[in-house]
Amino acid sequence: MKLFDVYPLYDVTPVSAKGIEVWDDKGQKYWDFYGGHAVISIGHTHPHYVKRIKDQLDKIAFYSNSIQNPIQEELAEKLGELSGCEEYDLFMCNSGAEANENALKMASFHTGKSKVIAFNNSFHGRTSAAVAVTDNPSINAPINKQQAVTFLTLNDFEAFENTITSDEYCAVILEAIQGVGGLDEPTTAFYQFIAEKCKEHNVVLIADEVQSGYGRSGKFFAFQHHGIQPDIISIAKGMGNGFPVGGVLIHETFKPSYGLLGTTFGGNHLACAASMAVLEVLESEDLTKNADELGAYFREKTQEIPEIKNIKGRGLMIGLEFDFEVADLRKKLIYEQHIFTGSAKNKKLLRFLPALNITKEHVDLFFEALQNALK
Ligand SMILES: Cc1ncc(COP(=O)(O)O)c(C=O)c1O
Repeated sequence: MKLFDVYPLYDVTPVSAKGIEVWDDKGQKYWDFYGGHAVISIGHTHPHYVKRIKDQLDKIAFYSNSIQNPIQEELAEKLGELSGCEEYDLFMCNSGAEANENALKMASFHTGKSKVIAFNNSFHGRTSAAVAVTDNPSINAPINKQQAVTFLTLNDFEAFENTITSDEYCAVILEAIQGVGGLDEPTTAFYQFIAEKCKEHNVVLIADEVQSGYGRSGKFFAFQHHGIQPDIISIAKGMGNGFPVGGVLIHETFKPSYGLLGTTFGGNHLACAASMAVLEVLESEDLTKNADELGAYFREKTQEIPEIKNIKGRGLMIGLEFDFEVADLRKKLIYEQHIFTGSAKNKKLLRFLPALNITKEHVDLFFEALQNALK
């Protein structure tokens, strides 16, 4: 059997990693400023993370959601405390798409409606409703296109008001900082307007924090830069630092009932141990603050490079915009400078999504490599 060929691959084979350093099968070292697409939050093979998972593996790795699993409760408690979202309940699943799938399903159950408002350039995943609210027709199969979704432009108050007043919508879903789309954001006034209109029209506000959450933006959740309170928050990526885990934080005003949501693997013992380790390291190393400070330092450094036309994002979720497409630059960075970076739907944007415990020296190293690659 061969692999179903859906990924264009770089010719690099990582075999080990530590912090933001990655080694390939030929012994070449790379610097990971991409974090496997914003997944690596506390650094590769962090000792506390490795120990937590190994210890759990020695005890019990998995049992279904038909028994008591106190680590899930511990995790919910810790997540509430660190995120400041204590008035939400946690439902655990396995990926970002699944988190959004559950969020949209809850919104539809809750309101009895089915249409959704999403935004241009959004990315929410590749499963049924999640891909339907993703602004990319090429990954929406006819079966997905059956969902009724209205795409609007971020920060267009009038279009938003005209749409939501029809009272047909169950949910509005948005990323506080667009990831795949290219780091665009709603303004605070627009996000607050959305929150206010959702309340007025009984529409569920879903904050997709799959990429921007877990400290990456310099606050635990990126919506917290805007003083709003969503009804549902979806999480994944940085939550497990590479262990496949996701979740939805559902405001306590939503009433659960047995069977409303469910999953075989979600919230298993190993996933909980990995997620607990991430939260413990985020707290003990004060990584949200580090993301904020290092993000500010990164912005200062961009002034040294005139080719950078625009800098987008917050904390350590950053996009550098050039006046040329960056595909070749990324190739030079990876093959000549041994630096991993990310791309976006906006082809002129280079993305920087490192682990949250990078240092100023790492940022300096990145800019030195970028300068070399631009020569
Ligand atoms: C904002 C956002 N939501 C959802 C997803 C989907 O997550 P997953 O690939 O874990 O299904 C992604 C993935 O890139 C994302 O960036």
